[in-house]
Amino acid sequence: MDSPDFLREKHVRYFKQCLKLLPRPYTGGDTNRMTFVYFALGALDLLGVEFDKDERDSIVEWIYAQQILPDPQDRGRVCGFRGAPFMGTHSRADGNATFHPYDGAHITMTYTAIQCLLILRDDLSRVDRSAITAGLAKLQQPDGSFAPIQDGMESDMRFLYCACAVSYMLNDWSGVDIDSAVRYISDSRSYDFGFGQGPHLESHGGSTYCALASLWLMCRHDTLREYVAATTKWCLSLQDQGFHGRQYKQDDTCYSFWIGASLHLLSAGHLINDTANIQFLMTTQNKMIGGFGKYQTSLPDILHSYMGLAGLSLGEFPGVQSMSPALNLTDATVKFLASEAVTWKRQ
Ligand SMILES: *[C@@H]1O[C@H](CO)[C@@H](O)[C@H](O)[C@H]1NC(C)=O
Ligand SMILES: *[C@@H]1O[C@H](CO)[C@@H](O)[C@H](O)[C@H]1NC(C)=O
Ligand SMILES: *[C@@H]1O[C@H](CO)[C@@H](O)[C@H](O)[C@H]1NC(C)=O
Repeated sequence: MDSPDFLREKHVRYFKQCLKLLPRPYTGGDTNRMTFVYFALGALDLLGVEFDKDERDSIVEWIYAQQILPDPQDRGRVCGFRGAPFMGTHSRADGNATFHPYDGAHITMTYTAIQCLLILRDDLSRVDRSAITAGLAKLQQPDGSFAPIQDGMESDMRFLYCACAVSYMLNDWSGVDIDSAVRYISDSRSYDFGFGQGPHLESHGGSTYCALASLWLMCRHDTLREYVAATTKWCLSLQDQGFHGRQYKQDDTCYSFWIGASLHLLSAGHLINDTANIQFLMTTQNKMIGGFGKYQTSLPDILHSYMGLAGLSLGEFPGVQSMSPALNLTDATVKFLASEAVTWKRQ
């Protein structure tokens, strides 16, 4: 039974449109285009929309064209995926690729590219698994965190999470020093028992999610259990009607996912006031064009629109598919990942 307040058809139209053409303000985000594709595909997957074969095939080919393959001339190169063909380089279905010294993989693009391929039910047969895990090993820092790109200037919890999600989906952890990653997570726990992007930084909903989901993916359930009581209390303190990501801020659509999923990972999903959270999310929908805004007064954007639906999914909202809080993918897609359909499960 769909709620009359839920604008399902408008959301379907909004995300299908996003997949084809985005408004001008997104131009500056072209290097992250793979994540926009993931938000749109992930949302349509949550809405239970199926893709026809031609559409699926053309997106799959576009994704593989963004794969950074090993360069015989540059053995140090970090492999994975780029966000879009902005360098003018590509990989072709016949295995031919063009190379450029500054064309490197970005860990978030690798993470979202593999998620997109799974949503489209690709068997991952063309993903260069060993090259990707060798690249992850080069991105891990001495403190256990990950940088997003080769020789990158930043490294934090977000990229540590991406490394864990990639390793989990590829079923190969050889690129991650797990003990060192777990130490980084413990060191990033703040005095109020939320997690920051790194040691001595302010607790934040997004980094707390990344920390807890990484522990779950690394099967460090004992460590996760140690955090349950205190971190659950911190997460619950961030619910007014919906959720906000830091103390004393205003509720924001995306934290219905970040904090909601954190509570589910802490086995405390039942402590969420789902009624209040759903009421909040109904008010951030855009009644004219579909999608969700950050606040009631903001225009919809693709990130908050995906996160709004993901928040509803965690609340078992009718008409939205159930999802895995740790992987950010629907249960149906996670089941596909675990099946014989994925190439290396058959080997
Ligand atoms: C791959 O690239 C090489 C060198 O540019 C070219 O000679 C060859 O024809 C290409 N292969 C295919 C199948 O296009
Ligand atoms: C949950 O939220 C609703 C709506 O805001 C409120 O009426 C209700 O009292 C809350 N339930 C609990 C257990 O706090
Ligand atoms: C969930 O999806 C959004 C989209 O990528 C992203 O910002 C976030 O890092 C993802 N986290 C999870 C849970 O996968």
